[in-house]
Amino acid sequence: MIPNYLVKDIGLAEQGARNIALAEERMGALMEIRKRFEQEKPLKDITVGMALHVTKETAALVRTLKAGGARVAIASCNPLSTQDDVAAALAKEGIHVYAYKGESRVDYYKFIDFVISHKPNITVDDGGDLVTRLHTQKKEFLEYVKGGTEETTTGVIRLRNMEKEKELKYPVIAVNDNKTKHLFDNYYGTGQSTWDGVLRAINPLIAGKTVVVAGYGPCGKGVALRARGLGANVIVTEVNAFRALQAVYDGFRVMPMRKAAKLGDVFITVTGNKDVITAEHVRLMRNGAILANSGHFNVEIDVEGIKAEADEIVKVRPFVERIEIYGKHIYILAEGRLVNLAAAEGHPSEVMDTSFAGQALAIEYLVKHELEPGVYKLPEELDYNIAELKLKSLGVEIDYLTEEQKAYLRSWKEGT
Ligand code: ADE
Repeated sequence: MIPNYLVKDIGLAEQGARNIALAEERMGALMEIRKRFEQEKPLKDITVGMALHVTKETAALVRTLKAGGARVAIASCNPLSTQDDVAAALAKEGIHVYAYKGESRVDYYKFIDFVISHKPNITVDDGGDLVTRLHTQKKEFLEYVKGGTEETTTGVIRLRNMEKEKELKYPVIAVNDNKTKHLFDNYYGTGQSTWDGVLRAINPLIAGKTVVVAGYGPCGKGVALRARGLGANVIVTEVNAFRALQAVYDGFRVMPMRKAAKLGDVFITVTGNKDVITAEHVRLMRNGAILANSGHFNVEIDVEGIKAEADEIVKVRPFVERIEIYGKHIYILAEGRLVNLAAAEGHPSEVMDTSFAGQALAIEYLVKHELEPGVYKLPEELDYNIAELKLKSLGVEIDYLTEEQKAYLRSWKEGT
């Protein structure tokens, strides 16, 4: 028997509802889509199965899908990211929610399996665990699935690998690749929320510190920019020559981690890869160095390998562990899991607005179209429409091309 919901404390529902309202006030684009969904019911008779961070912003998306006629089941995509009051509010509203902050590994997968047991027609994933589970342990449920969406870079990389190996059994829209997602959420969102997490966890003064940012994709760029804004000396580490060159021209020092390890006070990993910081790097670090991760999975800092070398591990306070190692100590935040969602509230609502507007439109698109298995982009005009909706909700007007300007852009004969 699958329970209707499983949350930490249903008594938190009222607080959760107040927090969701706070998010919705800042999510004007998604609210516009919700109004249309209420009228048109494009998701009638559709079951949406989700593995997403259970936050107040995600709740705003869940309510929008429900307004469109969908039945929704949701588990978290990270054991530490659930906001328990929000989970309780969703449960009270009839959503099948299975999540609590601090889930064991066993519960984490059990909850994803609960979601799969609801026979989703559409999957909404963040990181790919739901899709992987469906394609490995739960293949018998694949027949119900019409399509899926993926929220994050890490998940899209996995999906493309599955596609290459001809293992992906249904169409998935890479919402992460929307301009209204990665140019905003990854950059401004990760840039701000990562520091929010570090500050709430351990509150160091960033001004004057040497901050090492591993990875200079859209997320790393945001993290480095905000570190500089807070007064840090920023070092970037990269494996990609284009990105490294961009970091150099953006005015950052670029060097390999084995050199940066000796200089950094605060280290942030945002690469999407594993073993970016290992015990060998820690051996080189200064006393009191702070290590945090803002990439999707907890593999970027080799926490297990580092702890295996430790003389003592002290839990200083929530999300802060002091590791006595090699005759000094370092701090690891949030067990090397997403520091922004574990120690803070994730990205602000404003930036999740365009990400989740993309989710809502991608889900509607999948329901209305027949697609072959594969990884797809959301059509450009829908992505553009999200930017328009957001500008409108912010009360920002822009210029429009005149007929003469349009003709000029189509022409090729006019010169100086
Ligand atoms: N990913 C990053 N921030 C988030 C948030 N606030 N809600 C859901 N997913 C997120």
